[in-house]
Amino acid sequence: MQPAIVELTGVKVYRNNRLTLNIEHLTIAPGELVAIAGPNGAGKSTLLQVVNMLLPYQQGTLNLFGKAINKQSELNIARRQSSMMFQETLLVNGTVYDNVALPLIFRKYPKEKIRELVMSALQTFQCQHLAKRQARQLSGGEAQRVGLARALVFQPRLLLLDEPFAALDTASRTAILTDLKQVAVQNKLTVILISHNFNEVLTFADRVVVLAGGAVIQDDKPEVVLRRPATREVASLVDMDNVLPCHMETEAAQTIVRLDGGVIFPYNRSVTSKAKACCLPGDAIYILNEKAPSPEQPLVTVSVRVAGITPGIGTYKVSVAVDELSLIARVPREQTLGLVIGEKITIGFSPDEVQLI
Ligand SMILES: Nc1ncnc2c1ncn2[C@@H]1O[C@H](COP(=O)(O)OP(=O)(O)OP(=O)(O)O)[C@@H](O)[C@H]1O
Ligand SMILES: [Mg+2]
Repeated sequence: MQPAIVELTGVKVYRNNRLTLNIEHLTIAPGELVAIAGPNGAGKSTLLQVVNMLLPYQQGTLNLFGKAINKQSELNIARRQSSMMFQETLLVNGTVYDNVALPLIFRKYPKEKIRELVMSALQTFQCQHLAKRQARQLSGGEAQRVGLARALVFQPRLLLLDEPFAALDTASRTAILTDLKQVAVQNKLTVILISHNFNEVLTFADRVVVLAGGAVIQDDKPEVVLRRPATREVASLVDMDNVLPCHMETEAAQTIVRLDGGVIFPYNRSVTSKAKACCLPGDAIYILNEKAPSPEQPLVTVSVRVAGITPGIGTYKVSVAVDELSLIARVPREQTLGLVIGEKITIGFSPDEVQLI
């Protein structure tokens, strides 16, 4: 097995005497595309600064590219193989070409090689037509593409991104992430991307590490984090449709979950005794009528009234309620045709789709 590109063990960072980063163990393998998510102040930028060797840590060890980083010489070698980009591109005065050439001039590449690498990097991010433009006069989206070309022109092994695409419109952001992902996969580049946008995470990453209070609270595939958030903070981060207060009881070694509205169901997955809420993705709730095919697994059924219908691309959001229980279901548009606000309908969900937190 190839050694990890990044490995942190017991890393603690104190800022103003406050513990702001506390990573027990985190390893990132070559070629992984990892997103770092978490609320404001969670320690995401602090973590990236530690990995980028910009910030001293008070405890623990950092290994980069399979080597411990203790001495200045090790730090210099590791720095030459990694690249970082921020929300502001920090392009300097001069042309786009000059900007992208900078890391190569700094590394003393021969002139001919510089020309070849710069043009190839510009082409990769579809900005060769900008080569002669003044870098400071680019639009936000153009600047970020040029910034990526500059970050990757010297073919680093590790790319660290601190929300560089947050200010771009949705279409530009998806386009740039798709291009970056292709380049990363082709070159076995390892990328760590801080992001506040879970759609961005789903487009780009194979893995997401969620931080809160400086510590890792979930580390899994994006789809798992989306559907099975580990805590309330993660549920809110992924915009979970339904986070419902619940009570748990154990009857004959079986966990029974009670929701408002008199909804009761057995739960077969493992739970912690502290669980107080029940997460249910909206697309795991079915409207049960003759228009919709019933899924095969056994469902918990609930009689509810339609409270609202919100159009959307892909699925429509249907709000339903009974007593104190309000739910959001996401269903295909055709299943909402003919639904009337106030109408009584039956919905169903599989207990397997429920995540207790
Ligand atoms: N230069 C600094 N000096 C002292 N404390 C700092 C400094 N930078 C950040 N902090 C503190 O460290 C904690 C973590 O900050 P950090 O910037 O890593 O959070 P973040 O997860 O990147 O947040 P955001 O989503 O807002 O960018 C915060 O409480 C912050 O106030
Ligand atoms: Mg930050």
